[in-house]
Amino acid sequence: MSFLETTRIAYDTVAESYAEFIEDDLPNRPVERSVLGLFAEVAGGGPVVEVGCGQGRVAAHLDALGVDAAGIDLSPEMIAQARKRYPGLRFEVGTMTALDLPDAGLAGLVAWYSIIHVPPALHPDLFLEFRRVLRPGGFLLLAFHVGDETRHVTAAYGHDNLSYDAHRLPPERVADQLVEAGFAMVAQTIRQPIGWEPMPQAFLLATLGTD
Ligand SMILES: C[S@@+](CC[C@H](N)C(=O)[O-])C[C@H]1O[C@@H](n2cnc3c(N)ncnc32)[C@H](O)[C@@H]1O
Repeated sequence: MSFLETTRIAYDTVAESYAEFIEDDLPNRPVERSVLGLFAEVAGGGPVVEVGCGQGRVAAHLDALGVDAAGIDLSPEMIAQARKRYPGLRFEVGTMTALDLPDAGLAGLVAWYSIIHVPPALHPDLFLEFRRVLRPGGFLLLAFHVGDETRHVTAAYGHDNLSYDAHRLPPERVADQLVEAGFAMVAQTIRQPIGWEPMPQAFLLATLGTD
């Protein structure tokens, strides 16, 4: 099975419990809210798409900050959770590796803990796809777990019948790949672990700036 199939099956399986697990996260995460606030400011009113939106909380947070935000996710069950929670927002099934979006249409793209499910060897091509859909001057925001290893997940969120991969990533390598893909780095925030987290968290903001 391909990584897209194993990831989709896993998130379809955990959709309801994952949606509940993650629901209260942002109110307790001031660093994340400040990063999203910065992104909302530089992306202006949008349009912005969150790829790998899950149950929709990040797109909804951006919407509440005045951004025209929509979500795309590989998992139909996660999209069902997002539509149920935020019926006023647009959520569609799709893969970030081949976005069903026109060239140069977006002011911003967010991938919040979702590139972690794309094999790192494919990230250079993934970042070119992100570049394709962003307009000149557009902004890209990535969030991911810091590290340099792949975790094969068999149990999570109350389910023990899972089989998918999650990749921890070195921020320096991701930043280099973004620059290679034509982005300019704007800001890199590394937050130290909180609570159950075993590793720091990275938030990278990049732009297709024209100056
Ligand atoms: C860890 S969850 C994060 C969800 C959401 N961004 C959040 O922070 O609440 C990862 C999400 O990425 C989605 N995903 C994984 N690979 C994807 C792909 N290739 N295209 C679109 N979505 C993907 C999964 O289905 C899942 O909903």
